[in-house]
Amino acid sequence: MDLSTRFAGILLENPVMPASGPLVGDDEKILYIARLGVGAVVTKTISTKAAQVPRPCIGATQSYVMNAELWSELPPERWIKEILPRLKRELKIPLIVSVGYTKEDMEELIPELDEFADAFEVSTHYVGKDLSKIGEIVAAIRKHTEKPIFMKMSPHIPDPVGFAKVAKENGANGVVAINSLGPTLKIDPNKRIVVFGGKDSFVWTSGPAIKPLALAMVYMLSREVPDMEIIGVGGIKSADDVVEFLLAGAKAVQLLSAALIHGKDIYKRIVESLPRVLEKYGFSSVEEVVNTKLEFEVSCSPNHPRVDLSKCTFCKTCEWVCPYWAIFVHPDRREVVVDEEKCFGCGLCQTRCPVNAISGVMPVEGRWL
Ligand SMILES: Cc1cc2nc3c(=O)[nH]c(=O)nc-3n(C[C@H](O)[C@H](O)[C@H](O)COP(=O)(O)O)c2cc1C
Repeated sequence: MDLSTRFAGILLENPVMPASGPLVGDDEKILYIARLGVGAVVTKTISTKAAQVPRPCIGATQSYVMNAELWSELPPERWIKEILPRLKRELKIPLIVSVGYTKEDMEELIPELDEFADAFEVSTHYVGKDLSKIGEIVAAIRKHTEKPIFMKMSPHIPDPVGFAKVAKENGANGVVAINSLGPTLKIDPNKRIVVFGGKDSFVWTSGPAIKPLALAMVYMLSREVPDMEIIGVGGIKSADDVVEFLLAGAKAVQLLSAALIHGKDIYKRIVESLPRVLEKYGFSSVEEVVNTKLEFEVSCSPNHPRVDLSKCTFCKTCEWVCPYWAIFVHPDRREVVVDEEKCFGCGLCQTRCPVNAISGVMPVEGRWL
C-alpha cells in the first residue's frame, strides 16, 4: 500500500506527524518519535526567548487535553547550536521547524534556523486576530527563506478563509489547522480554585473533543482557498480519523493529544494500521484518498427510524434521548413504536443506539462511536 503524500514539494513516506508540543521538545524526544515511524516531524515552537511555563501545565480526560504550555522552554541558542545540528545529522525524515510569534521574532529567528528546516510552521497563537499582522509576519519570513511556509491557524481566528488568503498573498504555501481551542477553564468546586492555567487563569483545550471543529476548518479552507496546502490537526486518535482529515482536504496530518491520553506509541499504531484502514474503506493509496471529492446533499424531508428488533435490547436509550418525544419502547411487549407524526427525522436515536439496532435516518449505517 502506497502511503506516501506530497505537500509543497516535500515527499513524506506516510502522512502522519507529531503536532508541535512537549513530545517534540528537544533532539532526544524528536528522534524517539521519529523511530515510531512517522512521515515527518515538527519541533516545539521556538521563539526568541525561552518560555516561562506555569506548572502544572497539562491535564487530560479520555476526550480532551487541557494545557497551559506556551512555546519552547529552551532558549533559541540551544536549538540553533545543539538540537537542530544533531537533528540535521541524524534525522532521516523531513523536519518542520515551528516558530513564533511576531514579525520582529521572525527577522531574528529565520536566518538562524533556515539551514535546518525542510519547511517552517508558524504559530500565530499569541499574535491576536488582526489579519494585516499575519500578512506582515509571513512577509518577514519570506524575506529570509525559500523554504515552504505553513501558517498555523488558531481556532480563535474569526475569519479562517481571510487568514489563509492573507497568508497566501504574502508568500505562504499552506495552513496547519488547527491549534488548540480556547481560552478554556478548569475549576475545582471543593477547593474553590481555578486548578491551573497561565497568568490569566485560562488553559487551552485539544484532543478528540475538538476534532469536528478541526475537520470543518480543513474542509472549509481546502474548498475556499484550493491552492493552499492544508495540514490537518485536532483530535486525531486513529487511522480512521486520518482518513477523515485526508478526505476533508488535508495532504497530511498531525496529532499530539491522543498520545498524551493513550501513550506515545499511538503514532506507531496509527501508521501501522493505516494500510488496513485504507483497504477497509476501499482505497488503494493515500494519494487516492487525498484526490477524492466529498459529496453532500441537503434535504428537509424526514426519514424515520427503522428498528431491528433482533438487535434491540429495549434499553430505552432512544426513548430517553428523543428530542421530539416520538419513540416509545415497550420491553414487556418487545416492541418499539415510532410516532411518525411527531418524529422529526433528526437522527439522534440512530447515533445514540448502543447496539446499532436503528437505521434509516442518517445516510450511513450505525451509531457514532
Ligand atoms: C501540551 C501541549 C503543548 C502544545 N504546544 C504547542 C506549541 O508549542 N506550538 C504549537 O503550535 N502548538 C502547540 N500545541 C497545539 C498542538 O500542536 C495541536 O495543534 C493541538 O493540540 C490540536 O491537536 P491534538 O488534538 O492532536 O492535540 C500544544 C498542545 C498541547 C496539548
